[in-house]
Amino acid sequence: MQPDLFGTRRNEPIAPDAMILRGIAADPAIHHEVLRIAEISPFRHMQTPGGKQIGVEMTNCGALGWISDRRGYRYEPEDPLTGKPWPPMPPSLQNLAETAAAEAGFPDFHPDACLINRYVPGIKMGLHQDRDEADLTAPIVSVSLGLPAIFQFGGPERRDPVARHTLHHGDVVVWGGVARLNWHGILTLRPGSHPLTGAARINLTFRRAG
Ligand code: SIN
Ligand code: FE2
Repeated sequence: MQPDLFGTRRNEPIAPDAMILRGIAADPAIHHEVLRIAEISPFRHMQTPGGKQIGVEMTNCGALGWISDRRGYRYEPEDPLTGKPWPPMPPSLQNLAETAAAEAGFPDFHPDACLINRYVPGIKMGLHQDRDEADLTAPIVSVSLGLPAIFQFGGPERRDPVARHTLHHGDVVVWGGVARLNWHGILTLRPGSHPLTGAARINLTFRRAG
């Protein structure tokens, strides 16, 4: 926990091996990288294995991208929409994720996948665990841009109590170690407009998938 110039906390532990790093990803250049990625691999609604449309729009960058379709959830090296590899992970984003992980106590993190989620008002992400990755010793690094959202963070069991944390533009959440399989989700996004993203929230989650 480091007090900054104004005496507020920059690093906020939320559970053992889980921390919010406030405001470290506020540089507009990060959002510009997202726009460039989306020009190559556009945001799209994926289908659940059960055939429902996922409310959040998604794309990816990096060697592997997370996808969902009738055949299940998995990581793939190619974007099924374009038939081409996902756009490479920009070095600036990779550095950001590695720096955040190190600051939260995970110095050996080298992500090979970045799922990018786009929420508009009225859209949520239900409680779930991130468990499609081969290597569960690596943490998850989650970057929030644009409109604020309420992040739910529970424990490793579905029935564990869930705390709520508001995430603002530039906030980064890191969880790993004993928190790696903690349940989490995003409550329904409230209406609003952000100077950089408009009426949307963008979330990037960096993972070691392969
Ligand atoms: C996720 O769990 O994949 C996304 C979380 C978020 O949008 O903050
Ligand atoms: Fe998740």
